[in-house]
Amino acid sequence: MIEAASSENIAKAAELLRRGELVAFPTETVYGLGANALSAEAVRKIYEAKGRPSTSPLIVHVASVEMARGLVTEWPVAAALLAEKFWPGPLTLVLPKAAAVPDELSAGLPTVGLRWPKHAVAEALIREAGVPLAAPSANRFTELSPTTAQHVEAGLGDRVAMVLEGGASEVGIESTVLSLVGGTPRLLRPGMISRQQIEAVVGPVEVVTAASGEAHEAPGQHEKHYAPKTRLVVVKGEEDLPQKGRGLYLFRTKASAWIPARRMPKDPEDYASLLYELLHELDQQGLQWIAVEAPPAGVAWDGIRDRLRRASARVVK
Ligand code: TXA
Ligand code: MG
Repeated sequence: MIEAASSENIAKAAELLRRGELVAFPTETVYGLGANALSAEAVRKIYEAKGRPSTSPLIVHVASVEMARGLVTEWPVAAALLAEKFWPGPLTLVLPKAAAVPDELSAGLPTVGLRWPKHAVAEALIREAGVPLAAPSANRFTELSPTTAQHVEAGLGDRVAMVLEGGASEVGIESTVLSLVGGTPRLLRPGMISRQQIEAVVGPVEVVTAASGEAHEAPGQHEKHYAPKTRLVVVKGEEDLPQKGRGLYLFRTKASAWIPARRMPKDPEDYASLLYELLHELDQQGLQWIAVEAPPAGVAWDGIRDRLRRASARVVK
């Protein structure tokens, strides 16, 4: 059930979380499916509700640097600098995990991904619960991430104790994931905090491609992710549009003369903010395909390019 984020409902949600129940909550990136990160049993419920393989680790949400430091065995200078610069915000840092973090949460890895979300409701909920919250995106496995409470309700409604209303997620795509384990920082998932912005703080960053398996997704297996139900293709221009079926062209530079088309924002922040919300909406329209004009070059578009590539990937089994 969707509930307004009043202080009364946040207190109720916090109580549910402390009792080991699942609560979906808004963040600035996408809505999260939250559980007490310190309870193995609560964490198992997340995997069940999502239908997600237990080999895929979860992100833990905190509301202070102190809370983050309590969950790891090392807090390197790079973590301190990045947290100072980008937290609260859409950057997840992977660090060696403390014993208090259940193995279920990290999918057996010796590390944990942490972030402090920049959303008043998320922060209030974490503080009120008094525990860090494990939360993947609040969608069924391989489906599109939710950016509104209504998306969550439609996808997972009967599987969560409560959905807290927090408006549309502003960033609109999932956080940047950066590993600080070992030598050079490694970018595991691009997002709206770009490699360039991170490098300006900590120096060179290595980019890990999804196919290399380092993001703990076996090559190919989880490649299809963040996908709408409607077939999505990324095209260079009008000449590549599918010839058959009812479709829509999401263009940046030039509309099509013969296919219904819609202009996408020029600015990457605005583009990301709109993308999932639009795809959720288009998924209701019974289209045979959605064609998206490829984003331009440049690191500011890395996160968007990555999500479009995954959304258009065929399932490889
Ligand atoms: O913006 C976000 O990050 C959203 C909101 C709710 O915070 N959460 C999210 O969670 O996207 P999820 O579970 O859908 O994606 C988590 C990503 C996965 O790519 C996972 O492989 C990676 O983070 N990850 C988490 N913990 C990790 C770890 N210990 N080592 C490597 N990768 C990790
Ligand atoms: Mg997800």
